[in-house]
Amino acid sequence: MQIRVLKPTIITAGIVISSYVTLFRNTYYSNGKDTFQKATMTTVGLLKPNSFEIWFSLWGPQMLVLSNRQRAHGSKLEGHIWNHRNGKFLRKSQLLSYYRHIMKYRHTIGRICEIGFNGGHSALMWAILFNGNIDIVVFDLCIDKRCDIGEEFIREMFPNIRLKVVRGDSTKTVPIYRHNNPSVKCEFISIDGGHLGEVPKSDLLNMQYLAADNNTIVMDDINIKSNSPYLKFKIVGKAWKYAITNKLIKQIGECNPCKTYLPTACTFCFGKYLTNKILLEE
Ligand SMILES: C[S@@+](CC[C@H](N)C(=O)[O-])C[C@H]1O[C@@H](n2cnc3c(N)ncnc32)[C@H](O)[C@@H]1O
Repeated sequence: MQIRVLKPTIITAGIVISSYVTLFRNTYYSNGKDTFQKATMTTVGLLKPNSFEIWFSLWGPQMLVLSNRQRAHGSKLEGHIWNHRNGKFLRKSQLLSYYRHIMKYRHTIGRICEIGFNGGHSALMWAILFNGNIDIVVFDLCIDKRCDIGEEFIREMFPNIRLKVVRGDSTKTVPIYRHNNPSVKCEFISIDGGHLGEVPKSDLLNMQYLAADNNTIVMDDINIKSNSPYLKFKIVGKAWKYAITNKLIKQIGECNPCKTYLPTACTFCFGKYLTNKILLEE
């Protein structure tokens, strides 16, 4: 009985929302960004953890606008979670996991901290999921103009966003930031910065001090079986394993593969910083 009543309601709601999305996406292309933004603001309030497809179809095109703008300014971006090839977003399953997690815990997240801003795609995703009403602190080397362009783009979409971009080597900037901002804590942490040398381990160790008690951490490119050029030394995977073995982090669930344009998968893992601290080796 319940199912008979619910099914048509869900279908009708789906049709209404997707027409809404299509209408405003079309309006965006004809009338400009402001209309799009207003539409999104309204629509995002209707979204639920299972509304990924609607959200994805609304915002995917905007991620491409950001990529094109980066390209037009000559930024040589590294791989990112909104990588797009042959008409497809390659990491859709990863986007879905991030979307689901954040939508589920949105009410408990006040600040997101990220190492690896690159062109701003992941940070834009965080901003969208909170309708711009979120604190975001990001760390990146900011080679070429990528951070300037990414930051400007996010601010255009969300003029009131509380976004701090900390430029420089994260192995140095994170400890300095923490020292200068001892009360800043992050409920969601994404580490996707340097993949070589001591950087991944150092990032994991340094971010422990920024983690709120109720935190989630997600780390990208953990695959230790990959032969892709940027993962073949397995440094990120080993750093993650070190953090788990030493009980700095408790992994949440299985790690998930994500695809890139390379024949190997990258793998991302969710976890939580535990309360015990591990000091950085000098
Ligand atoms: C894979 S990209 C991040 C992609 C981004 N999370 C996204 O999905 O949109 C890695 C970024 O880490 C940055 N990076 C590499 N080594 C770094 C370091 N030592 N300190 C700070 N940032 C670093 C690079 O500049 C690059 O922008």
